[in-house]
Amino acid sequence: MSLQGHLSPLVSSAIERALGPEHAGVDPVLRPSQFADMQANAALALAKRVGMPPRDLAARIVEHLEADGVLARVEISGPGFVNLTLDDDWIGDRVSALAADDRLGVPRQEPQRIPIDYSAPNVAKEMHVGHLRTTVVGDALARTLEHLGHHVIRQNHIGDWGTPFGMLIEHLLEVGEDSAEARLLESDPNAFYQAARARFETDEDFATRSRARVVTLQGGDPETLRLWTELVELSTHYFNRIYGTLGVTLTDADLAGESTYNDDLQAICEELESAGIATMSDGALCVFLEGYTGREGRPVPLIIRKSDGGYGYGTTDLATVRHRVRDLGADRILYVIGAPQALHLNMVWDTARLAGWLPEAVEVVHVQIGNVLGEDRKILRTRSGAPLRLMALLDEAVATARTVIDEARPDLPEQTRAAIAPQIGVGAVKYADLSVAHESEYVFDLSRMVSLTGNTGPYLQYAAARVRSIFRTAGLGPEGARGQIVVTEPAERELALQLIEFGEVVAQVGDTLEPHRLCGYLFQVAQAFSAFYETCPVLKADDPASRASRLALCALTLDVLVTGLGLLGIESPEAM
Ligand code: ARG
Repeated sequence: MSLQGHLSPLVSSAIERALGPEHAGVDPVLRPSQFADMQANAALALAKRVGMPPRDLAARIVEHLEADGVLARVEISGPGFVNLTLDDDWIGDRVSALAADDRLGVPRQEPQRIPIDYSAPNVAKEMHVGHLRTTVVGDALARTLEHLGHHVIRQNHIGDWGTPFGMLIEHLLEVGEDSAEARLLESDPNAFYQAARARFETDEDFATRSRARVVTLQGGDPETLRLWTELVELSTHYFNRIYGTLGVTLTDADLAGESTYNDDLQAICEELESAGIATMSDGALCVFLEGYTGREGRPVPLIIRKSDGGYGYGTTDLATVRHRVRDLGADRILYVIGAPQALHLNMVWDTARLAGWLPEAVEVVHVQIGNVLGEDRKILRTRSGAPLRLMALLDEAVATARTVIDEARPDLPEQTRAAIAPQIGVGAVKYADLSVAHESEYVFDLSRMVSLTGNTGPYLQYAAARVRSIFRTAGLGPEGARGQIVVTEPAERELALQLIEFGEVVAQVGDTLEPHRLCGYLFQVAQAFSAFYETCPVLKADDPASRASRLALCALTLDVLVTGLGLLGIESPEAM
């Protein structure tokens, strides 16, 4: 339980005793303060209502505070704040209990079934930095929600259907399925796509064949479907290579691409039309919803069947909602998708609610992903202006991390440095995506990301590695340091108070879907550890008891850092 969770009930029951039962359940509004561990503002908030000067009221509350063993000091300050200072022994007990708890204070929440739509790259296209960010954020949320006890169902809604497939299939046939050009799909998919596109634009015959191919594909021709499957498989190899490098938890079992919904689309349109929710407009089947207007107040429709009979992005997304509620039994559905798609999603959800596919009890959330920008503050591209190849970007991150570690730790064996460079480089990129509020844009700056100082992944990894090295020097495993923690020094106290909050922060990430809160928290833990380590000798502590206590505090710090980074999908190197 958090400090707030421990102290709030103490103060509210003091208020109730001081003022009578009609004041039961008043929120005492606790805040951390410069002068104490927590400050209660209740007296100021209640003074008017009760008709008492705030300082007198504060005194009454303090009189009724039953906090023996929890609080060391209670003081009234300023106009009527109640400053609460925790008892060191109490902190020691709490933090010792945490160290003995294999969940480190993380609660198990009422389990929900939660489909999470994330990553969703497109077949025969490069994954761009936007896909990187939804992948990284979605994966952190999946891990965190699972850890909180939820049943997470990963849904990788890859773009594997649509008109470009006619052109892609024709190109695959032309270059040969076993050719080096076809293999490009596994290494540089954009090169394959661009080549197909160039053929389509310059060769009339090829273009005609491509259009006909779309029709045979939609008609379910077995040979065409086989070629399509081949395209999807080669692309999936590419995605999996990226996922492997990133260390994300997505597998082939999580693939639920646009094509999975092909058989549902007709029924969806028919149902919406017969319910009167969709109407024909200019040959297209559209849903006009209240509150969606564009320029000059003209209504913006959600087009669910185009005038040529084709279905679009809106129709497949209606199918995702229906499937996730009806077949996957969702209690809460997350769409971890680019912020610009908010309008699309809202129209889809409103339509689904009207159709009865999305009951009020099921919550849908758009976890908006902000853009990743280059130094010029435009969407990140290569110097030549081409879209960035994600694999190349990750390789560069690892190479940069290698330079950093070569410089910082030339004493480490070559093999060790080679092994940890990917952990640092990839961790740095992931942390950069996660530490900013997911809907905010940020500038991609590799040298800042891999820096060993500041709010970076490597700084946190370094803190964890530093604790590990203490245990190596001690010739002891962290699991061997599990005794009672006694808090005396201010830096010990500060670190302990931070560690107590871990469970609450993880729970908050599950509720708010904001991994950057966990990043900010772990950064504070790492800073508190650093201050502790500077002022409190561990292995050279004055007496065996305080050495054991400090080692136990170190072990708990390590657990919190490693578990927290793990929930973010970031590895913790053994040494750094
Ligand atoms: N493939 C899409 C893109 O690259 C993202 C799909 C997101 N998921 C969804 N259910 N619409 O932009």
